[in-house]
Formats: sequence, structure tokens, C-alpha cells
Amino acid sequence: MESYSRAIEASKDLIEGKIVVDVGSGTGILSMICAKVCNPKHIYAVEANRYIADMSRLIIEQNGLQDKITVINKPVEEVDIDDWKHGTEKASVIISEWMGFYLVHESMLESVLWARDFLCGPDPLMLPSHCRIWSAVVSNEKFRNEELEIWANPVCGVDMSSIGMARAVELTSAPQIEVLDPSQLLSAPQVAFELDLNRLDRMGFPCTPLKTQMSLKTESEGVFSSIGIWFDVSFGSTGVVLDTSPFHPSTHWKQTNVFLGCWAQVPAGIPIDFTLIISRPDPTERQYTITIET
Ligand SMILES: C[S@@+](CC[C@H](N)C(=O)[O-])C[C@H]1O[C@@H](n2cnc3c(N)ncnc32)[C@H](O)[C@@H]1O
Repeated sequence: MESYSRAIEASKDLIEGKIVVDVGSGTGILSMICAKVCNPKHIYAVEANRYIADMSRLIIEQNGLQDKITVINKPVEEVDIDDWKHGTEKASVIISEWMGFYLVHESMLESVLWARDFLCGPDPLMLPSHCRIWSAVVSNEKFRNEELEIWANPVCGVDMSSIGMARAVELTSAPQIEVLDPSQLLSAPQVAFELDLNRLDRMGFPCTPLKTQMSLKTESEGVFSSIGIWFDVSFGSTGVVLDTSPFHPSTHWKQTNVFLGCWAQVPAGIPIDFTLIISRPDPTERQYTITIET
């Protein structure tokens, strides 16, 4: 929230006197920061969930901002300019905290692009505006020793190895959302994908997969077990970056760790080559699949 607050403050001159849409406004906190700091013409806070929308109306009134912010309780895809209570001028600014794990998982990216294409005039200010998905080679040796290997030895003469095997299957069947320590990274992080929200085609990604060939060089030796993935987003020309990398204080997005199903001792200085694919098997769902082809 602090990054959003700084980005809104730094964009004050571009927001003043403009119509703003807050997509998936939740409690309305972004709309309220924007109303207090930027003096926009009006803010439409669009929130699909009835309970949350009602709660945000209450908070907005408690803060005396009801003349500046209108809460619209609908999915943004069902909103049109007829819902505007203050004229028919299209929006010039979109604010939204839409990101999910590894940026896109269960995210509202499509809804934000819909709002950009149908509720805004040309070239709206998008906050955030640019996104990057990063990846790095990860070691989980401590985890292997403490959670998997420990079950390899009989406990008081009893074979408990099935627990370790079940945990190994669990780890490799879905990406793990966890906090990675920088010391676990065997390579420097590299950008896998960059998205520009002003240019991203609503009918392209997320409908079509993101796919890229990566070659990450190990910088230290260790037990290579997984690929770590995370994102950052930036806010126009403000210089503000919301960074979810292991090198920054952890956020609720943490990092995403994709286990490969093997534990390989690797030396420093070798390339780890793989293809990273992020796709959505069912276009009606917000669930994505991460594929790592080695
Ligand atoms: C991560 S929360 C946003 C939180 C908000 N910035 C806050 O701090 O309270 C995302 C919100 O978007 C809403 N949402 C999801 N899809 C939506 C859609 N298509 N149209 C409108 N709201 C949506 C959810 O109900 C949820 O409240």
C-alpha cells in the first residue's frame, strides 16, 4: 500500500481534475488516498463483492469523501458510462491492486485491461503501468534435509519413509508460495517477461501463453532443486517500484517456488537452460499453469 501511496502522490499533477477508475476497489483505500491527495474530478470505485462494496461506502462516508468517490457494486465488465453519476466523460486514470501470486495467478489483469479499453479515453494513466516477472535458480537443501531426508531413516525402528515421499509428491505437483532467502539463490535473477499495461492486447495474454527461453548461470555451487519466480510493478514515470523479490521485505505475494522433482549438486559458473511457460488451461478461470521444460 505504501508503494501505491507514493505513486499516487507522485502522479498528483496527472490525476488532478481527471476521472479515475479504481478496478476491484475493495475497501476503497486507493480511491481515498487518491481523493485526498490529488483532487481528481471524480473517482469510480468498482467492486464486484456486495459486502465489501457496502463496507467501502461506509468507510468513504466516515472519511467525508462521498462527494468525490462513487462506489459501483458490479464486476467492472458490466460497467458502462451510463453508470457514471457525474457526466459522460471517460476516465483518464486507472488505479488497481490487481496482482496475484507470480503476478498473474488468480489476478484481475483481464478486468483491468477491459476497463482500460471500454471505460477510458486514449492513453490513460495506468497505476501500475509496467510489470516484470523474474526468475532465478534456487537451492532448497535445508528444506530437503529437514522435511524430506529426515523420513529416510527409521524412527525408533519404524519405517516412516512414505511421509517423505508424500511430501516430495506434494512439492512437485504445484508451485509453492513461500519466502525465499537471498542465500538460496544460486544464480542472479533475470527478467523472464515484461508487460506494458498501456500496450498489452486484451485479446493476447492472458488468453495466450507467455513463453520464454531462459539461461541462468549459477554464481555459487549448491543443490539445485527449483526455479524461483516473482514480480515487480512500476508506476509510470514516478520511479516507484513495488518489488516482491527475495531481496526486499516480504509481502503477502511472497515468492513462487517451482520444484523440478530432482536435487542436483551443481558447480558455480554453469548455465541452467529451460523454457518457462505461463498459461491458462481454462480461459473461464483465473488459474494459471507454470511449465518448466528442461
Ligand atoms: C486484491 S483486492 C483489492 C483490494 C483493495 N485495493 C484494497 O486495498 O482493499 C481485489 C478486489 O477486486 C474485486 N474484484 C475481483 N474481480 C473484479 C471484477 N471483475 N470487477 C470488480 N471487482 C473485482 C474483489 O472482490 C476484491 O475485493
